Amino acid sequence: MAPPPLDSDYVRSFFPALNDSWAFMENAGGSLVPHTVIEAVSAYMSECQVQPGDNAAIARDARQRMSAGQATAAAMLNAAPDEVIIGPSTTRNVQTLAIAMRSGFRENDEIVVTNLDHEANNNHWRRLREHGLRIREWQVNPETAELESGTLEPLLNERTRLVCFSHCSNITGGPNPVREITALVHAAGAQVCIDGVAMAPHVSIDVRELDVDYYLFSLYKTFGPHLGVMYGKREHLLSLPGQYFHFHAEDDIPLKLNPGAPNHELTAGTAGVGAYLDALAGHHFNEPSSDAVTRYRQVFDLIRDHESALCDRFLSWAADHSRIRLVGRRRAGNAGRAPTFSFTIDGMASQRVPALLESRGIVAGAGDFYAPRVLEATGIDSADGVVRCSLVHYNTADEVDRLTMALDAIMAES
Ligand SMILES: Cc1ncc(COP(=O)(O)O)c(C=O)c1O
Repeated sequence: MAPPPLDSDYVRSFFPALNDSWAFMENAGGSLVPHTVIEAVSAYMSECQVQPGDNAAIARDARQRMSAGQATAAAMLNAAPDEVIIGPSTTRNVQTLAIAMRSGFRENDEIVVTNLDHEANNNHWRRLREHGLRIREWQVNPETAELESGTLEPLLNERTRLVCFSHCSNITGGPNPVREITALVHAAGAQVCIDGVAMAPHVSIDVRELDVDYYLFSLYKTFGPHLGVMYGKREHLLSLPGQYFHFHAEDDIPLKLNPGAPNHELTAGTAGVGAYLDALAGHHFNEPSSDAVTRYRQVFDLIRDHESALCDRFLSWAADHSRIRLVGRRRAGNAGRAPTFSFTIDGMASQRVPALLESRGIVAGAGDFYAPRVLEATGIDSADGVVRCSLVHYNTADEVDRLTMALDAIMAES
């Protein structure tokens, strides 16, 4: 039997910050959190905010709650808990990884980065130039703002050590075929580092199936607390030099790659994301899977169908509006894309638009969203940037209509 559609009323009842008087569409900047997360953080702080390494019962309780958060983050990726580092943010996790990998690189080794990615998966790698590395840029097709494997192949050679790219752009919402590109990179003898930040709120991620070496996402954009998650294949994590104190053993993963250790209450709060996904599974399926990875996958299948309808609704409207210049593919039915829409409006500065939208009850953003390279590559002035409306599964078709009506009105007035 086909699963029921996502029950929006049920979904929305979990998010205390949601309010029908306004529509939140800056989710790619940071999503709202369900009450399960708020309660898990609050419970940790009220009941067991102690040093979790101690032996007292209260410390064991703290440790157990942090492990539950770690297990949730791992299950969201189909990884083992010790393969997952919960650090302060994706940017900081990439920095830690780049510093750790640095000592294994030789002069003139090459790293491929893209002009599609957010700076988080660019800046720390490009800086390795200062250490004798050669940086090659895999560039988007300026017409589609997409990366093509045909332009990656000539960049790969026997000196290539790492290829850094994203699962999905935080500007265009366009997905990259991670598995295929990873296979190409592995065949060339190099590793991949995937920025999954813009994709993780929308689909279930399976790092084993993708066969990636490193994969990162930000919990605070995936309905959780302000943290970043970094997966690495166990053999890579074991072989990287530790970045914490000298007495942390080289097999002490993931801790040795998390200088300062994870934030305690927020790691515990991450279990609240799992509790939310579990509640959705229980609500929509008579027999949710007993395995967390499969359960989350079931829920994300519902989310994908719901979001794909939102995408089609917005893209069909945009296709009829020639003043809207969407970055990336315009057409509806673009399977696998995230409901993140960035555009400029002919004859209007992007920076003006968020305030005009806010006066009509819509929260959206404008700027380069720390991905200026793709704007420049597609001929957009990165100083003015794009308007970005980024949706997640708690957004509704009515909200998309509210957005398109607001944009119609704004364009009619200018
Ligand atoms: C695609 C993408 N990657 C990385 C980041 C950086 O994440 P963090 O804030 O966790 O460092 C962002 C943040 O906007 C992003 O959108």
